[in-house]
Amino acid sequence: MSNYSIKNLEEYFQLYRKSVREPENFWEEIAEEHFLWRKRWKRVMRWDFSKPEVTWFEGAKLNITENCLDRHLAIRGEKTAILFEPNDPEEKAQHISYNELHKRVCRFANVLKSQGVKKGDRVCIYLPMIPELAISVLACARIGAIHSVVFAGFSSQALAARINDCDCRTVITSDGSYRGAKTLDLKGIVDQSLKDCKGVKTVLVVNRTGGEVEMVKGRDHWIEPLLEKAKDECKPEIMDAEDPLFILYTSGSTGKPKGMVHSSGGYMVFTAYTFKNIFRYREEDIYWCTADIGWITGHSYIVYGPLANGATTVMFEGVPTYPDHGRFWEVVAKHKVNQFYTAPTAIRALAKESLDYVEKYDLSSIKVLGTVGEPINEEAWNWYNNNIGKNKSPIVDTWWQTETGGIMISPIPYVTPTTPTYATLPFIGVQPALMDDKGNEIKGNQVEGRLCIKFPWPSMARTIWGDHKRYYDTYFSAFKNMYFTGDGAMRNAVGYYRITGRVDDVIIVSGHNLGTAPIEDAINEHQAVSESAIVGFPHEVKGNALYGFVILKEVGEARDRENLKKEINQQIAEHIGPIAKLDKIQFVPGLPKTRSGKIMRRILRKIAANDTSNLGDISTLLNPEVVEEIIKDAQ
Ligand code: WTA
Repeated sequence: MSNYSIKNLEEYFQLYRKSVREPENFWEEIAEEHFLWRKRWKRVMRWDFSKPEVTWFEGAKLNITENCLDRHLAIRGEKTAILFEPNDPEEKAQHISYNELHKRVCRFANVLKSQGVKKGDRVCIYLPMIPELAISVLACARIGAIHSVVFAGFSSQALAARINDCDCRTVITSDGSYRGAKTLDLKGIVDQSLKDCKGVKTVLVVNRTGGEVEMVKGRDHWIEPLLEKAKDECKPEIMDAEDPLFILYTSGSTGKPKGMVHSSGGYMVFTAYTFKNIFRYREEDIYWCTADIGWITGHSYIVYGPLANGATTVMFEGVPTYPDHGRFWEVVAKHKVNQFYTAPTAIRALAKESLDYVEKYDLSSIKVLGTVGEPINEEAWNWYNNNIGKNKSPIVDTWWQTETGGIMISPIPYVTPTTPTYATLPFIGVQPALMDDKGNEIKGNQVEGRLCIKFPWPSMARTIWGDHKRYYDTYFSAFKNMYFTGDGAMRNAVGYYRITGRVDDVIIVSGHNLGTAPIEDAINEHQAVSESAIVGFPHEVKGNALYGFVILKEVGEARDRENLKKEINQQIAEHIGPIAKLDKIQFVPGLPKTRSGKIMRRILRKIAANDTSNLGDISTLLNPEVVEEIIKDAQ
């Protein structure tokens, strides 16, 4: 168990140095001592960022679910694996033991098999945060099918695009879902999207809300009767370490979403090792990550990382504000949660409310607090530290991405001294670099640049589904021999990293990555619109909100403008989902453009942020006069 759990800063530095100097030896030891392999690797790693081609544990055989389930049965079979806390506080929580989870995963896997799902097939999962979501993910992994979970807040069109992109034949959904006081009709959304997905042959439906749904004969099946008939043993499919485990879509700055493909072996090793250390998980702990499994945080740190460590992981179906703003703290107190991991946007929303909501509950079980998804501002950090951590639980500000699979830069609690707003030091094996505009690495401290990673780590995405060239272009073409993250960062005097935010056209709203191009495409499809540009502007709770500058086809007051704004947002909700709606819409006569026709977003960003004192040089614009006009009507 030597290096698996890092005890102090000296040991961190020692291990870090080893992971840089002898990465193969380092990772081989971790992989060998802490995981179950059916066959050993021939080679620890191979890499060439110019292609890019990266492999870890090549030639090894495993099944990740044996690591997450089977190997725990003898030693912690009755321990709770998943602790399900429903949306309605009146509904009883469910404690699903490792024994039970194993059985339920096997049954589900057998149902998938009986429906003809085979190794390598893609299965789309569109489910709320109910146990069946984790179970179906693991069931796919059990039989070697590639899961593609789509967050159940995406619209039918967004779902259809994701189903078609990776050619899913099977979709798993539920009749409906509970979100706070609302009940959503998930099956209806699936039906709508399947009108555009001719390849889907099977839809498996979980009964959650008991709502009315239409079942298409031959295609749709309630899952319960099938599960009842299924055997509760299912032999794991033996996978190559490099076989894809899942696809997860993330927004790009341009065009359609990117299906990031993650591997089986490297992903398992890195998510498990980071989970153990970054949350300081100990055998009896109750760990809770509030993310949705529809995002990478849920994949890596609700399902795979915790279960690979035999942890108890809480799955929460609800929202932080229902039935009131004390819901998170009520759940922490009720289940005596030891590690609590959430997003800055949730912290900011709750910090605005009365402290009574916090003080009502006993939070003394908490040992580690975490944040993820966007930069955390100092005020929110302090509120979290003072009121939730009571100044005694370290905050791990964890920086990472869908593409990185696991946490890359983060304090190790009780090891790395924390500083508000700093993600601090790279995790073991992670080699960050800051780059200048000319493509040179900026060495030394107290510097700022574009954040790259210069050496592979085990859980990095291997490609974009169906488009390897796009994978290269997006991440490996900007800087030679480097993975470019799309983020800016600074390194302070002691070498701590602070992430300053995206440097591309991705905007993070309430922790959700949104590409500007797909939103603009959605707006431009409105028949009254001729062109549009979206930028982000600072928002107290969401971090960023969206501001749309829209040119209409007809000038004049012919249409009701307020109504038009509603229609535009409706259009966005249909194409992408309600999360991408605009906070502000301004109708403009033109957009500032360079002579080559590129929209100068820099200027629009300043206008949206109400910071127009220094717009820089606008004389090179094709249409400088339009800037004044936009400022005049800015909101
Ligand atoms: C941002 C989420 C600052 C960043 C795991 C990154 C952060 C994007 C942090 C990835 C953090 C994530 N501090 N910014 N601690 N964590 N980000 O793919 O811009 O949903 O590139 O993965 O979120 O978002 P994604």
